[in-house]
Amino acid sequence: MTSNFRPSSRLSGFYQKTIDERVALLTAWASLRGEEALALDQALSLAQADKLIENVVGRYALPLGIGTNFLINGKEYLIPLVVEEPSIVAALSHAARLARAGRGFITGSTEPVMIGQVQLLDVADPQRAEDAILAAQEELLAAANTSPTIARLGGGPREIRVRHLPHTPTGPMLIVHLHFDCRDAMGANAINTAVEKLAPRLERLSGGRALLRILSNLSDERRAWAEVAIPAAAFGTPDFSGEEIVQSITEANAFAVADPYRAATHNKGIFNGIDPLLIATGNDWRAVEAGGHAYAARDGQYRALTEWKVANCGQPPNTDAQPPVLYGRLELPLSVGVVGGATRSHPTAQVALKILGVSSARELSEVAAAVGLAQNLAALRALVTDGIQRGHMRLHARQVAVAAGASPERVDAIAQQLIETGEIRVERARQLLDAELDIG
Ligand code: MEV
Repeated sequence: MTSNFRPSSRLSGFYQKTIDERVALLTAWASLRGEEALALDQALSLAQADKLIENVVGRYALPLGIGTNFLINGKEYLIPLVVEEPSIVAALSHAARLARAGRGFITGSTEPVMIGQVQLLDVADPQRAEDAILAAQEELLAAANTSPTIARLGGGPREIRVRHLPHTPTGPMLIVHLHFDCRDAMGANAINTAVEKLAPRLERLSGGRALLRILSNLSDERRAWAEVAIPAAAFGTPDFSGEEIVQSITEANAFAVADPYRAATHNKGIFNGIDPLLIATGNDWRAVEAGGHAYAARDGQYRALTEWKVANCGQPPNTDAQPPVLYGRLELPLSVGVVGGATRSHPTAQVALKILGVSSARELSEVAAAVGLAQNLAALRALVTDGIQRGHMRLHARQVAVAAGASPERVDAIAQQLIETGEIRVERARQLLDAELDIG
């Protein structure tokens, strides 16, 4: 990844600005043209929607927010996020701010290699079939080179592998994997075209019958990871020391490593960050969810996708910070694209990619990993301290105070009073504001 100069994404008080002020700031930050700024809100036309899916009768709008403060491999990022759940944008922006107490996020990724599968049935001699298929690897790879665009960008078929499934509910089967470098495309179409083309040749080589020819969403050859190392001191609150909090975060993570019931919720929180970014950029978030959850069960038990530990001595990786340091890592399959599909045809997805300033699918996958890790950190920090509800309530109370007409300077105080009275309602906020006027 290159480290282009961009203004700082540390936008203090962004949440307190009006929508117009935020749009103006973002427009300047990301050098958006007039029509691009308009596309933040005036999303897809009905005519465009009608080209995307079938039986269109309308469009369904969701909020588009901006995650702030992200420093990834030394590059500043603002993160476009499309999501309906309150707190997510605030939480991951806060975690990204904490990460700046270290060196931000450090990320990496594999080559963008996807896997396509061909299912072969009625194969009389599976071992002989495997030998014949592998002996014909060169010819098969040449035949699978079906996307001139991807080939031009340096991608294409890379390898053939054969897997034996001797015991399935309907009997033995032989599975052929095609590894295909998709470059900047998510690659579903390219892979599916390639495996469909290979199937008749594989039938001849194996003496079997090809049934399914489709990509695998467990794209474990196409992974991205993010790491963060934050000094414990950055976590301190009036109620808890930083060291207590980071120790508790490792214990909370251990729970999700050991227990699938907790791991499901823990990993859901990770996707609270990743999915909104994928939706904003027009990517197939169901594919990434499927791959992530399957990867989380790769050793036979479903587990946390993250690792968190406290480094007490020595220099933890990727940081200059003094120990103790909280070190976190997330790695998962991330099959995303920056060309093709809705990334191209959805006008807001185009603007989202411009705001991100990513130049490749790999870079987008790495940003997604950093966002997932940030969201997980935010969730764990809240869970091991105040619990998740207090933060939700505070945010909700602020929104209620704003809705009741509180000025930006009074929002926090009114929100605090709403929390204390236990009545987080617009009517109650109005009463509190009226009472202030009377006193004034
Ligand atoms: C809520 O949408 C997500 C969390 O439950 C994630 C977690 O428990 O780690 C807060």
